[in-house]
Amino acid sequence: MKHKDELEMNTVNIADKLNQISEHWRPKVVGELNGQEVKLVKFQGEFVWHHHDLEDELFLGIHGSFRIELRDHVVTVGPGEFIIVPHGVEHRTVATEEVHVLIFEPAAMRNTGNVLDPKLTAPMGDKL
Ligand code: NI
Repeated sequence: MKHKDELEMNTVNIADKLNQISEHWRPKVVGELNGQEVKLVKFQGEFVWHHHDLEDELFLGIHGSFRIELRDHVVTVGPGEFIIVPHGVEHRTVATEEVHVLIFEPAAMRNTGNVLDPKLTAPMGDKL
């Protein structure tokens, strides 16, 4: 039996959520399921090279095109496209212009993976 609160389902409007995000590189949690989080983030510029020991990471382009740089090649991700970066694979995201991206990954995962960066490492579990 489900608790009443869990039955009050509603749609999540991605554009409305994005309108509430002003900072770059600060993912906001907009949904949770099965120990995973759905996050929205805006970014521009170069992220830091990093990897995640255990977690695979999905990036879905919403607005604008960005690059996922890997050590041996580069993948461009446009609106309506997604890429899954497997755990252990070093990567960094790069965007010439501001992009809006949906991320799907396990909860409580550090955005900079094995790296602690004073500017880029974001607080975890920041909800919208
Ligand atoms: Ni990552």
